[in-house]
Amino acid sequence: MRPAAATGERRGGRISVSYRPFRVCVVSYMSQILPGVRVLLGVSGGIAAYKAAELVRRLRDAGAEVRVVLSANAARFVTALTFQALSGNPVRSSLWDEAAEGAMGHIELARWAGQVLIAPASADLLARLAHGRADDLLTTLCLATTAPVAVAPAMNHQMWAHPATQANVACLRARGVRVLGPAEGSQACGESGSGRMLEAAELVAALAATGSVGELAGQRWLVSAGPTYEDIDPVRFIGNRSSGRMGFAIAAAARAAGAQVTLVAGPVALATPPGTTRIDVRSAQQMREAVLAQVDHSDVFVSAAAVGDFRPAAAAPHKFKKADGHSGLELSLVQNPDILAEVAARSPRPFVVGFAAETEQVEAHAQAKLARKRLDLIAANEVGHELGFERDDNALLLLWPGGREALARTDKTTLAQDLVARIARLRARQVAG
Ligand code: C5P
Repeated sequence: MRPAAATGERRGGRISVSYRPFRVCVVSYMSQILPGVRVLLGVSGGIAAYKAAELVRRLRDAGAEVRVVLSANAARFVTALTFQALSGNPVRSSLWDEAAEGAMGHIELARWAGQVLIAPASADLLARLAHGRADDLLTTLCLATTAPVAVAPAMNHQMWAHPATQANVACLRARGVRVLGPAEGSQACGESGSGRMLEAAELVAALAATGSVGELAGQRWLVSAGPTYEDIDPVRFIGNRSSGRMGFAIAAAARAAGAQVTLVAGPVALATPPGTTRIDVRSAQQMREAVLAQVDHSDVFVSAAAVGDFRPAAAAPHKFKKADGHSGLELSLVQNPDILAEVAARSPRPFVVGFAAETEQVEAHAQAKLARKRLDLIAANEVGHELGFERDDNALLLLWPGGREALARTDKTTLAQDLVARIARLRARQVAG
């Protein structure tokens, strides 16, 4: 039987036709504006929790993978079964789930997420997030994740306007949490005002527009940067002239394109690129430990650090003294582990990018390194003679198995963006083929 009346409409990439009195979606596609993005949807306790079910559908229509965590109070409004069916994944609500926590499930979940979205976010949840509480699964995940966090507040308009709530929201915003909404309108309590949760389609569109969901959304990049210092005694070390600027620019560019970025930094005087997680190290051995601890969770490893090749066999416990009758000092050096080669030798391994800083025969040395270390890509540059280190600009020769491209001299920010785009393209080809 044909319904009585039909009207066609287009909304945010979705074409639907509504029939009165029913509304039936006859063409149900939403352009994939969140392709492959791993969205961890947190649902807190509030009547708007019922809208989160629709949100799961819309997120999946947009191409996202969704896992749902319910707060204890959310489970009073909606059931885990609904979300399990809609997301196609098990739903978690407790930090004390023995089966999942045997394998540190909350940390796995925090690492899995490419984007955390809490919708609805109740006044209580916002307060607990602002205070860094970790007394349930959802708040613990928000502390443990490196993914961007967005919240969609939903509450009575007086609660939303309360200075305590506003202070909590300001605090969360200052920490980089995106606050989506709330909207104005009639509320479940019968009153009207600001406090309605945004509609599912609006939330999906807002997520796609955050910039945190760019070309590299859902990818985890590990970048090493800067020099390493190898201690000779408590006051002296062997270092090198790397400023870390190239690696930091790569981390910033990958982050801007939507990746989750962990930056392992040697001793440098540079500000952490916003939105990245920074691990400071000093020596090559510390850098190796930090990289190996992260690498299993990484899709791409860019080794931009100028890792010291040698270190003193043992750092002296006290400062060396000039001794009478000795005109020199002999240091015994041992070779440092090659972190890049070690990562490239793993299986499975991320897409592995190395650097080759050369003072002569750049291409020949870089080609040899590409093959010897079994890299997916090497970025070679000439250093010394006022080139490369400690400068704001650079030029790179990119070599990969079967290809080459020269990136002309420019500032390191632009160069890093170009390099990140090339890495993304080559990796996509590798994944596809
Ligand atoms: O062999 P070479 O030091 O020229 O290789 C440079 C590349 O190898 C860089 O990407 C650097 O980060 C990495 N490397 C490393 N561990 C070392 C030496 C270099 O990861 N011990």
